[in-house]
Amino acid sequence: MRAQLKYVPTTYNGCMSTVNTLLNVREAAEARKSIRKYSDAVIPESDLREILRIAGLAPSPWNIQPWRVIVVRDHDEKQKLMGAAYGQPQVGAASAVFVIYSDMKEALATADEFIHPGYPEDQRPKVKQSILDNFAKMGDEATERWGYAESNIFLGFLLLAAQSMGYSTSAMLGFDPEQVRALYNLPANATFPALVAVGVGAEEGFPHHRHAVDRFVKFI
Ligand SMILES: Cc1cc2nc3c(=O)[nH]c(=O)nc-3n(C[C@H](O)[C@H](O)[C@H](O)COP(=O)(O)O)c2cc1C
Repeated sequence: MRAQLKYVPTTYNGCMSTVNTLLNVREAAEARKSIRKYSDAVIPESDLREILRIAGLAPSPWNIQPWRVIVVRDHDEKQKLMGAAYGQPQVGAASAVFVIYSDMKEALATADEFIHPGYPEDQRPKVKQSILDNFAKMGDEATERWGYAESNIFLGFLLLAAQSMGYSTSAMLGFDPEQVRALYNLPANATFPALVAVGVGAEEGFPHHRHAVDRFVKFI
């Protein structure tokens, strides 16, 4: 069953349903704001999967896709996660919370999965070895920093994907990574780009306050 949109922010142009009212990228970027209050509407698993599928279309070097996600929906689990997030209420209030992490060890150990099938069979071992050599040279710490950076692209896609389907989000770095690691028994190398609360928003959020393009861009 579709989530009932009990609250329809005007920025959604009155969209009443979810996947049937896809915003385009520009509309989603304009509409997205951090939302910290949510209605009690439950996002159907099919919509959560679709948000994640779209986010997973994010590009990454060598197609490594180092991002991994735990979707927290259970009430008690959300309460535990809220504790690790310094009590931020949106963690408990949202329909679900995405715990986004990067795990380069696991990604590289399963490299055969991400190497594009378009590579001819005889070239695949060479491609794989050159990727593994590259990260072996970088060392563990830099490799994990790399995975963290790439997983932030996934994060950006995810925020827009959720918005495009009529859902609100709140990205958070206000949490204790060690507590989150312990909660889900994640490996020591995992890094965390963000927690993302997602649900049907119950507030407008703050108007955008952004630099003008000329403040951060030089055309040459
Ligand atoms: C990676 C990331 C982490 C953030 N962490 C928090 C957080 O822990 N708590 C919070 O209330 N807002 C958090 N924010 C929200 C920002 O404060 C917000 O995005 C920014 O002020 C711009 O407002 P807007 O998202 O409404 O456009 C975070 C945003 C991002 C992208």
